[in-house]
Amino acid sequence: MTLLQRMIDGRQAAPLTRLAQSLRGYRGTALAILLVIWLVLPLAPDESGLQFGFVYRFFFTAFLLASGAFFWLLRQDRIAQPRSVGGVLRSIVAVYLVTVGALVAFGVSYPQFALPPASPEEAAARETSDRGRTLFQRDDVGCFRCHVIAGRGGTRGPDLTRVAQRAGDRVPGLSAEHYLRQKIAEGANHQFTVPEYVPMMPAFGQSLSGEQIEDLVAFLLSPR
Ligand code: HEC
Repeated sequence: MTLLQRMIDGRQAAPLTRLAQSLRGYRGTALAILLVIWLVLPLAPDESGLQFGFVYRFFFTAFLLASGAFFWLLRQDRIAQPRSVGGVLRSIVAVYLVTVGALVAFGVSYPQFALPPASPEEAAARETSDRGRTLFQRDDVGCFRCHVIAGRGGTRGPDLTRVAQRAGDRVPGLSAEHYLRQKIAEGANHQFTVPEYVPMMPAFGQSLSGEQIEDLVAFLLSPR
């Protein structure tokens, strides 16, 4: 009788109860790993290039639960074993495809590491936008005090995470790049102000150099 059948017809104690029982010995470890997943991983600094988003943390959690299930399986004394050589080979291939396949598919769909730049131009572009990010977060420049990017920042101004997608539609005839350059230089004095916000954005044309404004534009236009 397969394990699945045994679970279905319920002749054994309820599988969940048994799972909980067999996990007891691992509970402390599992809890520690959960704490690391949910409290420590998110602290990875952006500069490290590591991105442990929610998807990853859920995945790690699922992985942990699956390992728990694996230990539980090991303790079952009557796991049906394939009898023929072909059966053994088929089960090895199946396990390999399911585990490695799932991991590879997941890793490809949700890259955890920022990919290295493909070309010198790309490397230069990334450097520019990195300088822009630093400026954006600098205390004396202060964009982040009024603007959120990727979940962090103040809310007196609009969230700029996806400003690249709307910047080209703000002023007819102005490209996204052009608009952002002007907007940063002129602040609330610009011909366009986002409705529903108190127009209080300082004009940065005086305090920042043209190059710094370009860096900020590149940062705001860079994909997130
Ligand atoms: C004192 C608060 C404040 C600071 C500091 C500030 N902004 Fe703003 N910003 C606003 C407000 C409020 C708006 C919306 C009203 C408007 O359009 O002027 C805005 C609008 C914008 C827009 C237009 C967004 C859109 O959807 O079209 C951009 C781009 C922008 N800010 C970039 C920046 C950058 C870059 C910095 C730092 C160099 C910065 N802001 C600093 C308050 C601020």
